[in-house]
Amino acid sequence: MFVDSRTSRFPTNFLWGAATSAHQVEGNNHNDWTEWEKLGLVKSREQSGRACGHYERFREDFALAKELGHNAHRFSIEWSRIEPRPGRFDLAAIDHYRQVLVELHRLGLEPLVTLWHFTNPIWIRNQGGWTNRRTIDDFGRYVQAIVDQLGHLITHWVTLNEPTVYTSHGYISAYWPPQKKNYLSAWQAIRNLVTAHRLAYQIIHRRWPAAKVGVANNLNDFAAARPGHLLDQGLRAWADFWHNRWWLNQTYDTQDFLGINYYFHHPLRWRWVGPTKLFAPQTPPAAPQSDLGWEIYPTGLGLVLESVRPYQLPIIISENGVADADDHLRAAFIRDHVAQVDHAIRHGLDVRGYCYWSLLDNFEWREGFTPRFGLVEVDYHTLKRTIRPSAHAYRQLIVQHSRSRSSSSSPTA
Ligand code: FCB
Repeated sequence: MFVDSRTSRFPTNFLWGAATSAHQVEGNNHNDWTEWEKLGLVKSREQSGRACGHYERFREDFALAKELGHNAHRFSIEWSRIEPRPGRFDLAAIDHYRQVLVELHRLGLEPLVTLWHFTNPIWIRNQGGWTNRRTIDDFGRYVQAIVDQLGHLITHWVTLNEPTVYTSHGYISAYWPPQKKNYLSAWQAIRNLVTAHRLAYQIIHRRWPAAKVGVANNLNDFAAARPGHLLDQGLRAWADFWHNRWWLNQTYDTQDFLGINYYFHHPLRWRWVGPTKLFAPQTPPAAPQSDLGWEIYPTGLGLVLESVRPYQLPIIISENGVADADDHLRAAFIRDHVAQVDHAIRHGLDVRGYCYWSLLDNFEWREGFTPRFGLVEVDYHTLKRTIRPSAHAYRQLIVQHSRSRSSSSSPTA
């Protein structure tokens, strides 16, 4: 893969890195998801357990990220560790994340800090989770604690990860906790998440006016399976509105940057099955797919980027990745998606970062340990880390886009 560094339009301080989330890598968490995992509903009845042992091994993992040319790293703080009981903050847990942040800065990795990545303390679950309005104020109190204790170490904040995915998987398709299939609950949850995001935005900015606050918005590229077909077109518009547009319209004025998590291209085809199932995603049989059967469609990232142009906000790709155990797809996957970012920048979009999902193999919410998303392979028996060849390819790409740049935060060849 060749990039002409003389014509590279990536800004000198472009953030290159990878993302993780606490529950998926840390190990030994105790939250609503670990409780749910005990019901045996994860594939092969797996439980997150010690996961990657990242809570203890974060220094080793960040050293690998550094070695791989990254200059940024996205991770999440686990609310259930910080506030295991209402209003009772665990100072040792806060200190842990202080060490995490100090280590990232020491290595020259810009932290992007997610405050909520799907998991809730058990006491939040017990009071009805996100359907209870009280959870908004509780979240605000937790955010205030992080702002006060760790805010001096954080510039880039991600308040929430994929609130629309959480709501639809938890309350509509209902195969994620809290598994409450109920449209009213879904509506309450998403409304409360909007308010919680806005509250967090204000709390962060009140104390740190220069902070950059965003959301990791999951944006899909929806298409009409039969382009000229009116019903397919209508479905496309409907799905785009409810999955992509509604949330952004509610929150864009409190996002200093738009985080974009891009995974899915869905061609939609009208098919009357029943009142709640009006369509079926239609993946062409010959399309390249990941180990999870997700179609690989880099063009969709370009379309998603173009679709957010009207918001006129800086953009960070907060997640984009592929499950690929034998690593035969990943290098091209990253190259082709970064090419879409390059194209977007050349056409005037202000894209400022790209975080590959994920730095490490990790525990996937319902699929368990089988999907392998990592730039770094994890042996779950020994916890040994092994860098995959595609991670070196990504490093080369970063170097090529950064070459002849003098910025101190640029990776070196
Ligand atoms: C995203 C999630 C992330 C990970 C990837 C594969 O939707 O934000 O935690 O599970 O999918």
